Amino acid sequence: MTDQPQTISRRAFAGYALLVGALAATRALGAPTLTAESPMGPFYPTGYAGEDDFDLTLLKGHRARALGDVIEVSGRVLDRLGNPVRGAKIELWQANAAGRYAHRNDRSAGPLDPNFQGVARLVTGASGEWRIRTIRPNFYGPRTRHIHFDVSGRAHRLMAQMYFPEDADRNATDALYRDLGSDAATSLARLEAPATYRWDIVLMDKV
Ligand SMILES: [Fe+2]
Repeated sequence: MTDQPQTISRRAFAGYALLVGALAATRALGAPTLTAESPMGPFYPTGYAGEDDFDLTLLKGHRARALGDVIEVSGRVLDRLGNPVRGAKIELWQANAAGRYAHRNDRSAGPLDPNFQGVARLVTGASGEWRIRTIRPNFYGPRTRHIHFDVSGRAHRLMAQMYFPEDADRNATDALYRDLGSDAATSLARLEAPATYRWDIVLMDKV
């Protein structure tokens, strides 16, 4: 029994050392990498006044869902220190399952889908969280699959594109993806579960 206090003391010291180590690691990891900027592209939904809620697969009054694989994408908007950005505005737009945008500048042959919303506008909650239900966009022309994001925080606005991790071969042939260089990892969503993706967006903002 006499050596118990020493044992406890050693344990306490070990616990303290772990805590200090964990704090140092948190600090080192505390500054996330900024999400890479990407061009807006020719299909920004200028003047779009249609439905713009989080579910792009279902339009009010329509009986059928959009064509294509339904996927969920969620994430957080963070500032450059890793703090959540509450109230960030997100506008996103994408091609449909035939690789076609519902935009007059898109003259490609793929059919429009009258049941696909194509655009969503979101505002992040207290933890910077956002979420959409959509369909997996298709490739078009030289482009790999992607979703366009226009994100406005408190002091910074970011134009970005999100890519899919399963498309590594096709991504490698996409000029805009390749232009990102080593920053491409910041534009790649993470597959969390079948048809479920996670993508955090890190802005220059300091909240
Ligand atoms: Fe695009």
